[in-house]
Amino acid sequence: MAELTWHGHSCFTLVTDDGTRLIFDPWLDGNPVADITSDEVGELDYILVSHGHSDHFGDGLKLAERTGATLVATFEIASFAETQGITNVHSMSIGGGFDFPFGRVKMTPALHGGMVDGDESGIFTTVPAGFLLTLPPREGESEPRRLYHAGDTALIMDMQLLRGEVDIALLPIGDNYTMGPADAVRAIDFIKPSVVIPMHYNTFDLIRQDTDAFREAVGNRAEVVILEPGSSYEF
Ligand code: NI
Ligand code: MN
Repeated sequence: MAELTWHGHSCFTLVTDDGTRLIFDPWLDGNPVADITSDEVGELDYILVSHGHSDHFGDGLKLAERTGATLVATFEIASFAETQGITNVHSMSIGGGFDFPFGRVKMTPALHGGMVDGDESGIFTTVPAGFLLTLPPREGESEPRRLYHAGDTALIMDMQLLRGEVDIALLPIGDNYTMGPADAVRAIDFIKPSVVIPMHYNTFDLIRQDTDAFREAVGNRAEVVILEPGSSYEF
């Protein structure tokens, strides 16, 4: 089983069947709803950063430095990290995929802002992204398990290209900075995942949402799994 744990906002840790440890969009220190601090994150193998905003990249450099994990991000964010002394980086660009030892990672489009936290030069401004992970089938099974972390994004037509490619979709529902619940439901119509786990909501008042209403709006399109910070979903 792979274990996906939400830490609030868009930060998740994932431990794959083979014991590989990943973190998505690390923002724990200063995150008002996080269940742990960055110091409490154990060993890590990969750090996946969807874009450069502080609420996604805030703990990226310090975790990369402490754990030695590979930072997987756009070329611009990876290049900025290198200027900060991080040497273990794997840069990608939208539409590109790579077969890592634990599974495949493809960088998907997102429509959002591109500023990189900590980059005072402004030259590393990036295109925001999402990630599509394809993990190998569980023992005795034939189908891979596909997890989509949308990053911060508006509803975009490009999501239609993900139809049939995603089992579990991590979608922002907070509104204001990303798509809200209604557009997330339309995204589900585009993507047709089996399971949806909402993210990027209830971190602060501006993005407060009612998860019961969201579940009702999704209806029978997909199973909605509501996590609490610190709780996990196994797949
Ligand atoms: Ni953002
Ligand atoms: Mn954000």
